[in-house]
Amino acid sequence: MDKATLEPPRIEEIYARKHRIRVKTEAEIDGIRRAGRLVVATLEMVASRIAPGITTEAINTWVHEFTVASGAVPAPLNYRGYPKSVCVSVNEVICHGIPGPRALAAGDIVNVDVTSILEGFYADANRTFFVGEPGPEARKIVTVARECLTRGMQMVKPGNTIGDIGWAIQSHAESQGCSVVREFVGHGVGLEFHEPPQVPHFGRKGEGLVLIPGMVFTIEPMINLGRKELRILDDEWTAVTRDGSLSAQFEQTVLVTPEGCESLTPWDA
Ligand code: MF3
Ligand code: CO
Ligand code: CO
Repeated sequence: MDKATLEPPRIEEIYARKHRIRVKTEAEIDGIRRAGRLVVATLEMVASRIAPGITTEAINTWVHEFTVASGAVPAPLNYRGYPKSVCVSVNEVICHGIPGPRALAAGDIVNVDVTSILEGFYADANRTFFVGEPGPEARKIVTVARECLTRGMQMVKPGNTIGDIGWAIQSHAESQGCSVVREFVGHGVGLEFHEPPQVPHFGRKGEGLVLIPGMVFTIEPMINLGRKELRILDDEWTAVTRDGSLSAQFEQTVLVTPEGCESLTPWDA
């Protein structure tokens, strides 16, 4: 083989072969951005209706109907056997809460995690809401979790690593006396629900894969007021804090741009 006539592999091809990461094209990014706008609109719709007395099943109905009416498909429904169209996680529930007859009470915190498939493209985002007036513990964990997502996103730029994101999140959470869940991580997203790479919310500076433009992934730190350990309920989905402490989460789908980071699911926290 004549080496001189071979083009060197493009970095995108190396990421695909070596890491199974699909660096997105401009057309794909536009599609994910459109799906992201729908996810944000869905979260806004939920935010405007959340109140004491509402059941988590009602939130599922709202999200399902809004998604379908928008020409999209709720990605959670029947995903690996998940039975509902959205994850709704109250208080000590870390994530993957299954909607049901539980009614929200004033003082609760509730995370609503929406993933929609629009024209084949996936976007994934979540927010934690207050139900009525929050107490001091609720206020603290929600504030710290939101700050953790912001700090993680601030690390997103070409040349930084996945470990930089985890480090920024973990160091902030722990400086506030909170802990970071290890078992669930951020993930590539866009052409499928969960793609490589994994994006841990803990880690060391400089460790892990280098970020390159066109990568699309979620950052979704789950932050506990107490200890980091979790337990899965008998429904095989619901993750709760082992010590019963409050847990909060915020998630966005982000794009690595030549300049830094663009949220494809932008919401004002
Ligand atoms: N939306 C979750 C995430 O952020 C995944 C939920 S999986 C489901 O990755 F099956 F519970 F929907
Ligand atoms: Co996600
Ligand atoms: Co999600």
